[in-house]
Amino acid sequence: MSEASPKVLICVAWPYASGPRHVGHVAGFGVPSDVFARYQRLRGAEVLMVSGTDEHGTPITYGADREGVSPREFADRNNRIIVDDLRRLGLTYDIFTRTTTRNHERVVQEFFTTLYERGYIFTRTQLGAFSPSTGRTLPDRYIEGTCPICGYPEARGDQCDNCGNQLEPTDLINPRSRIDGEIPEFRETEHFFFDLPAFQQRLHDWIEAQMHWRPNVRRYSLNFVADLKPRAITRDLDWGVPVPLPGWRDRPDKRIYVWFDAVIGYLSATVEWARLRGEEAGWRSWWQDPSVRGYYFMGKDNITFHSVMWPAMLMGHGDLELPYDIVSSEFLTMEGRQFSVSRGHTIEVRDVLSRYDADVLRYYLTIAGPETTDTDFTWAEFVRRNNDELVGTWGNLVHRTLVQAQQNFGCVPEPGELAEADRRLLAEVEGGFASVGGLLEQARFKAALTEAMRLAALVNQYLGSEQPWHRIKQDRRRAATTLFVAVRCVDSLKTLFTPFLPFSCQRLHEMLGYGDVIAPQPEAREVDLGGDAHRILAGDYDRTPRWAPSCIEPGRPLGVPRPLYRKLDPKVVDEELDRMRVSTA
Ligand code: MF3
Ligand code: ZN
Repeated sequence: MSEASPKVLICVAWPYASGPRHVGHVAGFGVPSDVFARYQRLRGAEVLMVSGTDEHGTPITYGADREGVSPREFADRNNRIIVDDLRRLGLTYDIFTRTTTRNHERVVQEFFTTLYERGYIFTRTQLGAFSPSTGRTLPDRYIEGTCPICGYPEARGDQCDNCGNQLEPTDLINPRSRIDGEIPEFRETEHFFFDLPAFQQRLHDWIEAQMHWRPNVRRYSLNFVADLKPRAITRDLDWGVPVPLPGWRDRPDKRIYVWFDAVIGYLSATVEWARLRGEEAGWRSWWQDPSVRGYYFMGKDNITFHSVMWPAMLMGHGDLELPYDIVSSEFLTMEGRQFSVSRGHTIEVRDVLSRYDADVLRYYLTIAGPETTDTDFTWAEFVRRNNDELVGTWGNLVHRTLVQAQQNFGCVPEPGELAEADRRLLAEVEGGFASVGGLLEQARFKAALTEAMRLAALVNQYLGSEQPWHRIKQDRRRAATTLFVAVRCVDSLKTLFTPFLPFSCQRLHEMLGYGDVIAPQPEAREVDLGGDAHRILAGDYDRTPRWAPSCIEPGRPLGVPRPLYRKLDPKVVDEELDRMRVSTA
């Protein structure tokens, strides 16, 4: 690698603090971003991975109303649950904070003010929805109706969950309140608008040039910028960041639109991270240096906010860098149907992790997840992939190699002269650092993992034809050579698998006799930023460059080999399907 310690800023979509995360959520933003971050650190890049819970707007007030608690209580509770979900999945955020911090509010207000002063924000009167019976405003999310784009009958006033398009309540056909079915009354109300059309040409030219984006993302975004209208960036709501202008600041009924505040979170989280390290200006080197590559990870319903809205805001702001890549995944369904929390057709991350190891879920979501096309999560496939691939190929390779080496030699065996087959295999596996690395560099996670698995299968074949466990009786030296080669391959494969399977690869690392950490894990921390106490997910992640073939030396003592994965009884498929039926009943 010729570049000296490149800097990679990883911006991960902020999950709404509206409830525990389900498998579909973490398939979209969670696992892919962490695989990427871990790979980048292993190859020696300087990584900053930021995110947090998205805690404003109607997604939160709606949930809070439903549960009869205040938005703050509701967000607090869900923030804790989500932090725990993400921690247990091993997602290595440098900072995973919240949008309800004072730091975030200040950064958002400064951003708003900058755009306002530059003339990109103006007021306009529009129609807002009100409840005729209570006189209260009916936020977008409280209204449902038929989607004017795809005809889905239960689209919400902010977005259609069927086609993913962003909507205004006035777009809906047959609008009605989701609370009581009442037909909303539309009245005039004054709001701030962001002048998106002012950036149309620049956005178009910029997106057009991003040939490294996934084709769907680029096409969808180009299509979107063909027709831009000013976007309302305030709402009639009492929960959110206040508008930082005289006459507006103290109004209890106007707040900045949740999406406008959330995307600024990438910047505010960086500011918080730097402040916590005592470096007030430390955020600048991540946002004002054109050599830093910013990668954004999200599900496809978030694309235009990241590929159009946020870049336009950055252009308007003037001295912050644009994204480098928008890594969006497609949708995950479960057992043939859309995830639906309200209908109980969902599976929570914490629930899966109470019964299965995090690496198994990470494996499945990478190898069979919705990277470039919609895919379906099925328990049958989950069990099959675990048993055939994780246990059958990789786990089996590790186990028989280490057991044979340990039992017969107690350490990494001293090899005799390497035969042609030995050299070929070593070269092939070592080639994985270029092939798997190249794919990871392009955010092609499924192909990268498939390639690593292919290499593991090659080593299995080699062991199958060399049969060191038989040969050991007649030709101990040849068996030693074979096992030496296999241990080296396993050690190299361990590094190749680490971004995907950090928990088991760390255990393997220790079984191979290493005493350090190859796969660090995040932890929840209580922090206090100028009197604002809150909880974050963070970690001190090792950045030793390790993305290189094994040099494990003969004679190194080996630890006790233990199986890395466990076979799942096929009857868990029925158990899981029964659980699902109970929850949707
Ligand atoms: N909360 C949004 C969602 O879950 C994502 C926000 S991404 C952000 O769909 F960057 F804007 F915060
Ligand atoms: Zn639709």
